[in-house]
Amino acid sequence: MSHKKKVLFVFGTRPEAIKMATVISEVKKHPDLFDPVVVVTGQHREMLDQVLKVFNIKPDYDLMIMEYEQTVSSIVCRCLQGLEDVIIREHPDIILVQGDTSTTFASSLAAFYQHVPLGHIEAGLRTGKKYYPFPEEINRRLTSVVADIHFAPTQTSVNNLLAEGINKSAIYLTGNTVIDALQQVAKKEFNLKHAGISVKEKGKKLILVTVHRRESFGAPLRNICEAIKKIAHKHKEIATVILPVHKNPMVSGTVNDILGCADNVQLISPLDYEPFIHLMKISHIILTDSGGIQEE
Ligand code: UD1
Ligand code: UDP
Repeated sequence: MSHKKKVLFVFGTRPEAIKMATVISEVKKHPDLFDPVVVVTGQHREMLDQVLKVFNIKPDYDLMIMEYEQTVSSIVCRCLQGLEDVIIREHPDIILVQGDTSTTFASSLAAFYQHVPLGHIEAGLRTGKKYYPFPEEINRRLTSVVADIHFAPTQTSVNNLLAEGINKSAIYLTGNTVIDALQQVAKKEFNLKHAGISVKEKGKKLILVTVHRRESFGAPLRNICEAIKKIAHKHKEIATVILPVHKNPMVSGTVNDILGCADNVQLISPLDYEPFIHLMKISHIILTDSGGIQEE
């Protein structure tokens, strides 16, 4: 008797959604083999929802956990509690998680508590530094401890997993799914003016900036903003800075304080994925601390 595998996808933030999207669409192409169930934790809200829209993903469950100024502990607690009910109800054959956010780690733990096998997409990234990036380095290491199947993006990440004693037969070298998403979106025509963005101001070169990492909060983030202010001022004849500001109030507070009135710096809301990719295409330089943007 053939038995379809029920695959529970769990994710919660913008980058997880972007990186999971192409995997979900591949799995959906095989309804004879797989029964996909999509669970979003809602760790992000607006930034997640716009990705769901671009890739036409309709979640089966939304745990809606996001709170203003949430802490890492509150994300983990709320994910764990919400996921337990879903896993008990759905009885999946496998749970798939992506990357290294707190949703990723909490979902791994929830899978373990319910004795459900876990597949980890984008496994094996390491800096070897406990607090850098924070909390992602520990989130991904703990996820590797729980995972039964590890989908590694590069040979380096395969080697990292092997060095931790993970069995070779459980590791698959897949490439990075963010590149599949990027190629899908980048090849479409897109008019930035339709997204309300006017960038080629007086023929100036574009410097695109994003910043959001937790380990930079406080003095390092202030220094980054001061540096951007100087660059924008010094090079205003030839270049202009555009910075989509991350929704985290710990980021937006500092960025708005220092760069809100800065010369030659345009602060905008987080962009939808399509306009963002097309903005990257026409940028002269991208300055970023984002894992996903570096890969793209
Ligand atoms: C999270 C991940 C980080 C990932 C990043 C991608 C954790 C702990 N952090 O960081 O690994 O690199 O996402 O962007 O898992 N907010 C909104 N709307 C949104 C999203 C966020 O208002 O759509 C605000 C809320 O006030 C929220 C805060 O931002 O409390 C922080 O969100 P959170 O997911 O905890 O942290 P990020 O900095 O987004
Ligand atoms: N991104 C986006 N709009 C923006 C900034 C980034 O759609 O205004 C996309 C970007 O193309 C990449 C992903 O979001 O795919 C990166 O997410 P983020 O920087 O939030 O997280 P990280 O990759 O650092 O975990």
